[in-house]
Amino acid sequence: MLLVTGGLGYIGSHFVIVALQSGYDVVVIDNLSNSHAHTQQHIETIAQSHFQFIEGDIRNKSLLERIFKQYQIDTVIHFAGLKAVAESVVSPMRYYDNNVYGSLVLLEAMQEHCIQKIVFSSSATVYGEPQYLPYDEKHPTIPINPYGHTKLHVENVLQDVCQADKDFAAVTLRYFNPIGAHPSGLIGENPKDIPNNLMPYIVKVAQGNLPYLQVFGDDYDTRDGTGERDYIYVMDLVQGHLAALSYLNKKGFHIFNLGTGTGTTVLELVAAFEAANSVTINQRVMPRREGDLSKFWANPSLAKTELNWQAVTPLHVSCLLNS
Ligand code: NAD
Ligand code: UD1
Repeated sequence: MLLVTGGLGYIGSHFVIVALQSGYDVVVIDNLSNSHAHTQQHIETIAQSHFQFIEGDIRNKSLLERIFKQYQIDTVIHFAGLKAVAESVVSPMRYYDNNVYGSLVLLEAMQEHCIQKIVFSSSATVYGEPQYLPYDEKHPTIPINPYGHTKLHVENVLQDVCQADKDFAAVTLRYFNPIGAHPSGLIGENPKDIPNNLMPYIVKVAQGNLPYLQVFGDDYDTRDGTGERDYIYVMDLVQGHLAALSYLNKKGFHIFNLGTGTGTTVLELVAAFEAANSVTINQRVMPRREGDLSKFWANPSLAKTELNWQAVTPLHVSCLLNS
């Protein structure tokens, strides 16, 4: 049985669908700080299957102990975390508390209950300024913001735990830029506040909830001057987690990039979205956003050879707006 932390959030909810559809029993813990309780019903409708949802915080050790006593959990899929880079610069302690301390409490409770398998949601942000592209897993990790530091701290803790306990298995997945939603349109990326990330912002403009897209900089060293990223369809991303689950039979600490291997600029993504949905996205070029990198994308070949996984969905499909 799987414990999925943050399982009602954007990526977690998509993962729970494919996990249920693959026959896994699932327990979700989520404190709803960036998600909604009604997402459970949507997941269950799509998957035609039930799972246990516990509203609570991963920093609550006694709650975790109760969960580990009550359910036969053998593996944890750890999505829970805060992810807004700008917010992490303003409130670093909140990020260390939630992301690092939260993971420590979770790992401690796991160890006390002899649970020795975990998949951890990390980010391409751990690499920092590209020293070469595409980033492979051996690229130096020098994050440039507190959010990135928290992800790297947890990676290091997992590595040390695996070093100390030879029966422990941890897979760290470094996501590039997840986009899109389940084809049902019932769930998707639905941030509680104004989106920080490009795709949910485009969606809000398309829906008329925001007046125009701010294009942050058109003077980067890219094809059209706008920032270039590796956008990966969320359903492909969660399939990577199923592959990681199987990989946990190998003990030790493992890291994989989950990306497509292809860079797309802001203007290219907007054009793909417009074509896919027959809409026009109002846009204005603004100054660069502080802290943004010019361009990066993944070398995903290790995941292909080791996990037998690769992203398969073309951009025009991941851009489809169903809701
Ligand atoms: P999200 O905010 O939609 O989901 C995270 C979920 O965790 C939310 O439902 C939130 O309520 C819950 N949560 C947060 N702190 C918690 C806590 N202390 N206890 C219990 N629940 C808690 O974010 P997401 O986009 O689904 O991201 C999932 C994970 O993937 C995060 O760890 C994030 O850092 C990482 N990640 C995301 C992206 C991305 O672009 N979305 C990229 C790289 C890495
Ligand atoms: C951000 C995070 C990164 C995280 C990633 C995925 C920063 C600095 N980094 O990266 O740590 O791993 O999200 O969650 O926030 N853009 C616009 N207008 C917008 C929003 C974005 O032009 O309204 C541009 C950005 O300048 C960038 C591209 O779109 O070139 C992608 O931005 P975003 O979706 O925020 O992702 P990242 O910057 O890659």
